Amino acid sequence: MSDPIVYVHAREVWDSRGLPTVEVEIMTAGGAIGRGIAPAGASTGRREAIELRDGGRRLGGRGTRKAVAQVMEVVAPALRGIAVDDQAGIDATLDGLDDDPQRSHLGGNTTTAVSLAVAHTAAVSAEVPLWARLGADATFIPRPQIQILGGGAHAANRVAVQDFMAYPLSATTITDALSHVAETYLAVGDLLRRRGEPRGVADEGGHWPEVADTRDALQLIVEGMELAGFRPGTDMGIALDIAATQFKVEEGYCIGGRVYSTEEWIDELAAFSAEFPIATIEDPAGEDDSLGMTLAVERLKSVVVGDDFLVTDERRVTEAARQHQIGAALIKVNQAGTVSRAAAAAAAARAADVAVIVSARSGETEDVSVAHLATGWNADVVKVGSITRGERTAKWNELIRIADTAGITRLAPPIG
Ligand code: PGA
Ligand code: ZN
Repeated sequence: MSDPIVYVHAREVWDSRGLPTVEVEIMTAGGAIGRGIAPAGASTGRREAIELRDGGRRLGGRGTRKAVAQVMEVVAPALRGIAVDDQAGIDATLDGLDDDPQRSHLGGNTTTAVSLAVAHTAAVSAEVPLWARLGADATFIPRPQIQILGGGAHAANRVAVQDFMAYPLSATTITDALSHVAETYLAVGDLLRRRGEPRGVADEGGHWPEVADTRDALQLIVEGMELAGFRPGTDMGIALDIAATQFKVEEGYCIGGRVYSTEEWIDELAAFSAEFPIATIEDPAGEDDSLGMTLAVERLKSVVVGDDFLVTDERRVTEAARQHQIGAALIKVNQAGTVSRAAAAAAAARAADVAVIVSARSGETEDVSVAHLATGWNADVVKVGSITRGERTAKWNELIRIADTAGITRLAPPIG
C-alpha cells in the first residue's frame, strides 16, 4: 500500500566530536515517522560525497545550517507526495537535484540524512524492522571488528596507523563476540596502566595509542588477548585500518620522519602481516596508489580491504575487484550519498566475490542505521569503533536487539 510523504523537516544536531550535523525527519500520510542523521569522517577520501558546511566564523566553519536549508527549500518540495517505500525512486530524485555527482551543491550530508530518514520511515510505515525491509532473508549477524587502540587522524597522529581492531574469530554469537572484545579492551587498558598514567581515548573510543610504534601496538594487543584468555589467531584476530592516504607524500609514505617508497611500505606491512595474526588490512596504500594496492594484494597474508580507495562507489568496487583482486570493500552510506548507491556498491562487491564490511564514521551520533544496513545487506563484517562511548554502543546494542528479537543466532563466518 502506498504511503505518501507529507512532511520533511531538518534540524542541526550534534555528533560525537562536538560538531554539528544534519538530522532529517519524515512523516507520511499514514502517520509513520522516521529519522536519519548524517555521520562525518575525519580521514575522508577525496572522491567521496562532499559535505555541505557553512563556512564563516561560527564553529570554525563547520556549521550545517546551509544543509538544513537545502533540505527545507530544495528536497522537501521534491519529496512531498512520493510513496515512502520507493527508496530507489527517492534516491534517484536526490541524484537529480544536484548536477555534481559529488553533491557539492546539495551536500552529501544532506542527501545521506534524507535517504536514511526515508529508509527508517518506510520501515515504520511497513511495520517491519529496517533490517528486514532491506533483506528479509538475513540469517546471520555480521561479525564485528572493534577498535582497541585509535590512531592516525583520530588520535592527533600519535601513531600513523588509524585503527587497531580486534576481530573475534571463535565467537559464534554477537553477544559472545562483544563480550570477548570487551574482555580484551579491558585487558589492554590494564597493560597500558601498568606502563604509566592513563591517557584517555581516541575519537572512536579506542585507548589512546600510548605506544612506541606500530609493532609495539600490535604486541600490546596480542598480549591483551592472551591476558584476557584468548588465543591470538584462533579465538581472536587483529584487523587494521592503515588509512594510508593520510601519510602519503609524493615520494611514498612518511612515517616517524622516514619516507618509505611504495614498495618498501608494502613490504613493511607484509612483515607485520606475516608476524602477527592480522586477518584484514584496510587501505594499506593511498587512495590514488593503484600500484600499492596491487602489491598489497600480492604480498600481504591478510585480506586487503578498500575504503578511501573505493569510496563506496559501485564502479570503483567492480574495477578494484577486477584489476587488484581486492578482498573486501568498506561500505559507508555517506561516502555514496544515498542508501541506494551504497546498496549498489555492496551488491557490486558481492557480485565480484568481494567481502562486504559495513562501517560507521569517526564522527557519529545515536543513529543506529548502520546496524540495520549491515544485517539487511548480509554484510560479512560490521565496524563502528570501540566497545565504549554511547554513539558506538548504540550500534552494538542495536545489533544485540536485532539478533534477540529476530532469533538470529549465527554470526557471519570470519574472512581472511
Ligand atoms: P573516518 O574513519 O570516519 O574518519 O573516515 C573511519 C575509517 O576510515 O574507516
Ligand atoms: Zn578506513
